[in-house]
Amino acid sequence: MSYANHPGIKANENNIPKHVAIIMDGNGRWAKARGFSRTKGHQKGVEIVKEVIKYCQENGIQVLTLFAFGVENWKRPSKEVRNLFRLFFLVLRKDLVNLNENNIQLRIIGDKTAFNRALKTAIQDAEILTQQNTGLVLNIAVNYSGRWDLINAIQKVLKRTSEKSEISEAQLNQELSLFGLPEPDLFIRTGGVQRISNFILWELAYTELYFTKTLWPDFTKAEWDNALADFALRERRFGLTGEQLG
Ligand code: FPP
Repeated sequence: MSYANHPGIKANENNIPKHVAIIMDGNGRWAKARGFSRTKGHQKGVEIVKEVIKYCQENGIQVLTLFAFGVENWKRPSKEVRNLFRLFFLVLRKDLVNLNENNIQLRIIGDKTAFNRALKTAIQDAEILTQQNTGLVLNIAVNYSGRWDLINAIQKVLKRTSEKSEISEAQLNQELSLFGLPEPDLFIRTGGVQRISNFILWELAYTELYFTKTLWPDFTKAEWDNALADFALRERRFGLTGEQLG
């Protein structure tokens, strides 16, 4: 593999992230610049999602977590929100066979209680069909927030335990949406904004953060390769000194 911005380096196999988490920002601006509707921008965004899934498979990445709709996104114009949910539904229905044939395990994370019955059923069908798949784990966060996930987990722990004065990390971890998966090694946010925006807060504790000005619909293979190249150059210490790491 070679990298557009880093022609000298090759990917070190050991420096390939296991888990990549992405905030796909910039669909609206991409559409506006072309005189298209915001919905058209999101449709183009879905095409890029499909490309990125392929890159993950090519690079041996095991988990991909995408922020598709945050709890704050309900404040957007109602037409855009409606169209986004229609898009999620269509993707679930139309691309499910293909995802399954690609051995992808699909999980939707977030507060699903707000969804209509058709969407709930489509999600359930997709998760059941793909749950035994052993390839890429694809988590799509819809009506998700990191704070919601934490509060939800704390409430579940409190319900389960009689000893309420002490909650361990392990107990809490077990109730979070991404339990059982490796924590993200690499976080990517497109669209030129440098923040986490209430995405997976707990799991990002030691994640390498990568921000690019590129809008999500323009996120090409070269951009992806650059993000992985940047990651490969990071020294991850997890609190240890350089000497301890050897
Ligand atoms: C951010 O761009 C994007 C979103 C809020 C929606 C992201 C959704 C998709 C890419 C569709 C994904 C669908 C599936 C099924 C995974 P923005 O609208 O905030 O852009 P802006 O900052 O330019 O306005």
